[in-house]
Amino acid sequence: MSRLNKVVIPAAGLGTRFLPATKAQPKEMLPVVDKPAIQYVIEEAVSLGLTNILVVTGRGKRSIEDHFDRSLELEHLLQARGKSSDLELVYQISRISNIHYIRQGEPKGLGHAVLAGADHVGTDAFVTMLADDIMSPDSPLLRDMLAAHQQTGASVLSLMTVPPEQIGLYGCAKVVERDNSLVDIASVVEKPEPSEAPSNLAITGRYIFTCGIFDALRETKPGRGGEIQLTDAIQILAKREPVVGVIFEGGRYDIGDKVDYLRAVVELALQRPDIGPAFLPELKAILEDYSKETIDDLAR
Ligand code: G1P
Repeated sequence: MSRLNKVVIPAAGLGTRFLPATKAQPKEMLPVVDKPAIQYVIEEAVSLGLTNILVVTGRGKRSIEDHFDRSLELEHLLQARGKSSDLELVYQISRISNIHYIRQGEPKGLGHAVLAGADHVGTDAFVTMLADDIMSPDSPLLRDMLAAHQQTGASVLSLMTVPPEQIGLYGCAKVVERDNSLVDIASVVEKPEPSEAPSNLAITGRYIFTCGIFDALRETKPGRGGEIQLTDAIQILAKREPVVGVIFEGGRYDIGDKVDYLRAVVELALQRPDIGPAFLPELKAILEDYSKETIDDLAR
């Protein structure tokens, strides 16, 4: 098995769940504390040695490329002002990894975006990371998935148990238990009606694929919402070759969802040694004020 180091990050979606912030700005560039969401995702990949990164972009996404490029004017300015730590911060972002870009052309869905990476990936296995799913830095998920791929040679899905009424927001997997948190995927379905869902295991935004996914994607007909759905291609793939899943708990933030975005900002700020200690008392004070207000409201 060749060493897995390629990542495809689809980042061409419109981000309609986060309007109006995403009207003229990619959702992947929404700041979470002080970094754009996509930087967390790329840092997560690089921390595991996944350094050959392809970002699939689209119209209006140029700020993603600018963010990971050199910014000579800014660097000169920071140097002239003697702001060496800011200069280092800005410079390091442009050296983070070997990032390639391709444009999706037409927004025909997540599966279509992943297929845009076919020529870049070739016949290697590769990782797909959704840029609006960010993971807590201490999450073992992707490491566990890489180990599962190493052990089985199979494509690997990331699975999270969700309340039954929420399963219609996700791809859903029917599984057969294997050992501990590793399962065999029997079938998958994109955003089922909760009453028809085969389980409450949701597919989340980390995947490892063999190159077989590309043939499956080429054969995938438009599905839910008229789009080429990645989940539909996984269903084709799972009929041809083993696909496994790693079940994980916690540490995931869907920054395309406004409430989960706020949870990400708060939790990731609290975890930061440079911000957490100053932020915690502020947060406690806000919560105390709100509890008081709620009690006052009830008394009225
Ligand atoms: C996409 C996938 C879905 C998956 C989800 C994870 O949906 O189509 O299968 O469960 O990402 O975040 P989206 O969130 O783009 O609607």
